[in-house]
Amino acid sequence: MAASDNRKVIAVSDANALAETAADRILTRIAANGDRVAICLSGGSSPKQLYRLLATDAYRGRIPWQRVHWFIGDERLVPANDPLNNMGMARQIFLDRCAPASNIHPIPTDSSDPREAARRYQSELQSLYGADCLDPARPLFDVVLMGVGPDGHTASLFPDYPAIEETEPWVVGVPKAHIEPLVPRVTLTLPALGSCREMLFEVAGSDKRAILTRVLAGENLPANRARSSGETVWLVDQAALPESFRGQ
Ligand code: 6PG
Repeated sequence: MAASDNRKVIAVSDANALAETAADRILTRIAANGDRVAICLSGGSSPKQLYRLLATDAYRGRIPWQRVHWFIGDERLVPANDPLNNMGMARQIFLDRCAPASNIHPIPTDSSDPREAARRYQSELQSLYGADCLDPARPLFDVVLMGVGPDGHTASLFPDYPAIEETEPWVVGVPKAHIEPLVPRVTLTLPALGSCREMLFEVAGSDKRAILTRVLAGENLPANRARSSGETVWLVDQAALPESFRGQ
């Protein structure tokens, strides 16, 4: 529907349509890459419906699981089986049933130091990517899923925190969260998240409308600064859509 700079906003009717549209876009990106595919998942509650959908017969059978690798854009430093663990949630909903274990790449949470966990995840990403520097011609990920929090954060990049300004590291530790759950976080930085063919935000529900209005007005918020080197798409349902975007 509306396009401004390299961001496209796609409005859909409701959360079901949003999950279906996201799943179809992921399938399209997988099909476009005949080699190893890298998908970076998001945490929080927004992607749960999409994850459930990917595990259904309709979608599961269309994903070449052996060549798709799954990463996570940010993690809460809690044990892997804690309900707050982002990758744990994705594993429980679909990955453990569908993906080979060696294709699931969680951020380690066995260290109490988020910086140490960040260093380890960065090494893993760099070794799979095969280089320590991101090449704009060779994106790290095919798809990066994102959500937005009420303060405009995305991944664990919080407003006015130093992590949002990082240009060199791919992954950093965030000792103190800005918002609940108030546990240390580990997050990919803007350059790492942005190194993708498609960045896909999922935004649904009326409680997202206020922050979405601020983001789409161009406010300097992490979710607004997160851009793909390829395509940046915001999938938004009617309940979350700001008044000024209706009917466009
Ligand atoms: C996290 C997330 C975070 C999330 C947004 C939206 O670990 O909390 O990765 O960035 O995507 O806060 O969360 P909801 O989908 O729960 O609203």
